[in-house]
Amino acid sequence: MAESNDKPNGPDLALGVSAAELKEGAMLTGHVGDDEVLLVRQGGTVSAIAAHCTHYHGPLADGLVVGNTIRCPWHHACFGLKTGEALAAPALSPLTCWQADERDGKIVVKGKKAQPAPKKTGAAGERIVIVGGGAAGFAAAEMMRRRGFAGSITMFSNDNAAPVDRPNLSKDYLAGSAPEDWVPLRGDDWYAENEIDLELNTEVTAIDPRARTVALARGDTVAFDKLLLATGAEPVKLPVPGADQPHVHTLRSLVDSRAIIDKAKSAKRALVIGASFIGLEVAGSLRARDIEVHVVAPEKRPLERVFGAQLGDFIRALHEEHGVNFHLENSVTAIDGSRVTLKSGGTLDAGLVVVGVGVRPRLALAEKAGLAIDKGVRVNEYLETSASGIYAAGDIARWPDPASGERIRVEHWVVAERQGQTAALNMLGVPTPHRAVPFFWSQHYDVPINYVGHAEKWDTIDIDGDVMKRDCVVRYKLGGRILAVASIYRDRESLEASVKMEQRT
Ligand SMILES: Cc1cc2nc3c(=O)[nH]c(=O)nc-3n(C[C@H](O)[C@H](O)[C@H](O)COP(=O)(O)OP(=O)(O)OC[C@H]3O[C@@H](n4cnc5c(N)ncnc54)[C@H](O)[C@@H]3O)c2cc1C
Ligand code: FES
Repeated sequence: MAESNDKPNGPDLALGVSAAELKEGAMLTGHVGDDEVLLVRQGGTVSAIAAHCTHYHGPLADGLVVGNTIRCPWHHACFGLKTGEALAAPALSPLTCWQADERDGKIVVKGKKAQPAPKKTGAAGERIVIVGGGAAGFAAAEMMRRRGFAGSITMFSNDNAAPVDRPNLSKDYLAGSAPEDWVPLRGDDWYAENEIDLELNTEVTAIDPRARTVALARGDTVAFDKLLLATGAEPVKLPVPGADQPHVHTLRSLVDSRAIIDKAKSAKRALVIGASFIGLEVAGSLRARDIEVHVVAPEKRPLERVFGAQLGDFIRALHEEHGVNFHLENSVTAIDGSRVTLKSGGTLDAGLVVVGVGVRPRLALAEKAGLAIDKGVRVNEYLETSASGIYAAGDIARWPDPASGERIRVEHWVVAERQGQTAALNMLGVPTPHRAVPFFWSQHYDVPINYVGHAEKWDTIDIDGDVMKRDCVVRYKLGGRILAVASIYRDRESLEASVKMEQRT
């Protein structure tokens, strides 16, 4: 994660500031030694917390205080003001809290507060199995240990890498601007320290809800008391001749990203098939590596189905500005070595091909186990499947979303992590309905796009600001009701929209 080398800003809070400077609901950034500290007055109480988010270092002073929480402006992580706890992903580590004393019209910040040790919960003999070492699986394991779960946690992953910051694989890491040590969500030691038995390269082949066991490809079975299914999604393969050649890649795992980087070292031209989020982020990252990039996709406008025409046009223009060549309303019919044939008749030569034509949820285990399936694994508001004690979260889960009033399944990082956290609480016996408003972000060059809510269809798009000037809030409405809000460089309004939707539910 990015660390700032900037000198700390603002007044020296160890010397103190006038209490009158910090009105109710206000924030003030200062420092204690080299640490930037944010003061927040909420409900009459002054909290002193680290000024930057523990996810990617977002400036919390630009965020929003909501009750006893503070929300990060960049990707909407939520922290408790009193404890610093990372209550909602994508941040998973707490903020450091300081002791702030208000006396004689002055606020003085003293030493750092110690993090309270969690109270032990759950029976020591209870066995939890997590199938999947991705966003949801990791966030669940982390939350269980954070809340003091005393039983065993075993996480099976058929990946060969410990849980990674998957969104980074198509962004900074692929572009070459993030080193590999930013990619793991936690270092290897963390799993041992937290007594999480992470079994990599281990495929779960079956779940028996009655016997309460999982079967592994290596031959043995493992018993569980409660299970979280978080198998995520896999890239859709391109059904054209030649798509199985070694220079034709998909991108889901760290190994996939490394393989693309390796090929990019010698390729002069790359062809991205599909103008999906991943396809376009890959296009942008390969441009950062100075490779000629072409994108072939059947739609008229990139991402129009999610964002509508105006944002679709903007995204196309942004990529063209960076030298990406689009071949829209077109598709690939064959790949023969480096020669790629287009439906329109022409051919393109590309030493590197990346297929980004969408993903498919990995439902095979759930189907085989007889769990209720409804275009995803059907779960209730507590994320429990049709089998008692078996939960599902992340890309596979279709849950009753209170914001839209519909059952939805989405493929977003933050949603998967938050569902993992919610499932963990429910598995620990703390009944917690999943009410988090869906959120995702996508990054194209220096332009982040944030999106809150969920709109599969709309009848009106309201634009506040100027999309082409990269300063806008785009509201997607159906029957006058705002279903979703996309924004560029309007972080606060994005947070406010999210909080409004949260309050609506
Ligand atoms: C390159 C890339 C960039 C992305 N960028 C963004 C972004 O910017 N914003 C955003 O919101 N979303 C983004 N996403 C989507 C986001 O990463 C997913 O929505 C999220 O990872 C889903 O989490 P999950 O836990 O459901 O699945 P995953 O994170 O995919 O984890 C599933 C895990 O299950 C394991 N597994 C599957 N089957 C088995 C089995 N039978 N036995 C054992 N293990 C198994 C897999 O190996 C994997 O470890 C991106 C995805 C990719 C691939
Ligand atoms: S930087 Fe704060 S949520 Fe990402």
